[in-house]
Amino acid sequence: MYQEIKKHIFYVGVNDRVTRKFEALWPLPYGVSYNSYLIADKKTALVDTVEAGFTETFLANIREILGDKPLDYLVINHMEPDHSASIAAVRRAYPDVQIVGNAKTVEMIKGFYGIDEKTLSIKDGDVLPLGAHELVFYITPMVHWPETMMSYCPQEKLLFSGDAFGCFGALDGGVVDTQLDCEIYWDEMYRYYANIVGKYGVPVQRALEKLKNVPIDMICSTHGPVWKEQVGKVGGIYNSLSRYEAEEGVTVVYGSMYGNTARMAEEIAAELSAQGIRRIAVHNVSVSEKSYILRDIFRYKGVVIGSPTYNLQLFPDVEAVVSALRNREIKSRIYGCFGSYTWTSRAVKELTAFGEQMQWEMPAEAVEMKQGFTETTAEQCRTLARAMAAALKK
Ligand code: FEO
Repeated sequence: MYQEIKKHIFYVGVNDRVTRKFEALWPLPYGVSYNSYLIADKKTALVDTVEAGFTETFLANIREILGDKPLDYLVINHMEPDHSASIAAVRRAYPDVQIVGNAKTVEMIKGFYGIDEKTLSIKDGDVLPLGAHELVFYITPMVHWPETMMSYCPQEKLLFSGDAFGCFGALDGGVVDTQLDCEIYWDEMYRYYANIVGKYGVPVQRALEKLKNVPIDMICSTHGPVWKEQVGKVGGIYNSLSRYEAEEGVTVVYGSMYGNTARMAEEIAAELSAQGIRRIAVHNVSVSEKSYILRDIFRYKGVVIGSPTYNLQLFPDVEAVVSALRNREIKSRIYGCFGSYTWTSRAVKELTAFGEQMQWEMPAEAVEMKQGFTETTAEQCRTLARAMAAALKK
């Protein structure tokens, strides 16, 4: 299946509705697409490839368009294997194809696939003429690997953006946003950003700055719809997320073995609601996938984390969330924490130190409970929630 998205520019990507976890980590309830594009001009150029396991479908898409014509160029914007895994197969199908990338890409192509012939190393701003179309290259490191770049077709004002502006979610029939019900993609864009790109806010900002005067009518990323009608909205979401901006709302994350710490979480959430906070996402770490917890923490300004003390440490699944947040260096959050213990206190100390390390605003004292839930604990939880709500509304 292929689709002409602009005259002589074709979508030749594939839908993955089989893989359960992207990068073996992040759930894919709506699947994911690996997008690739073919420009069939005087010279022909393929932009990126697809994940292993989909190579034959992908090559069939290309053959349907090219017939007996040669493929002149394979432009690689990003070397992560979900986009580069079919490079060797493309070279086997089209032995004369020139593989185009920057110096880091060329090194990785050799490292991953042992290919070091017929490669063309380009630099930032270089232009590849194809006939009526040309491609201009913008090197955008760490969005989200060191070699990442974007390719721009000025004649169509079309940006092949790599992972940037992408989202989870396979393409149900259509390819361009004007053909699709985009409702699911917005949440999946937050989750994709938080899970995959979230650590690289500064490089994303640098890339946006580099592109700020480039007129863009269409964004062709490597995952999710081709953006045409929603270019502005998509750019706004990536701009806001990479600045760590967030909406008024609170993510409450907790672990609980026997329900005592859970009661603290429920008390905090209920008081936040009583204080007029509408957007509250409560996650039990033993049930919610970390993927969704990260999405909500990127989305909401307030974060409250609770944990029992477990073997003199944080509850393991809470520790995993804390570690993922630390790794992503999320900035500018309003933070509260709570916890419990039976004989030796530890979790609250760990969570307090975490908030300090992140340099997050902490408007209230941490709440610590020894053993069972009491009215005193409940009032301390409500006090924390009131301070959090006040700080959010400030
Ligand atoms: Fe879709 Fe960074 O690969």
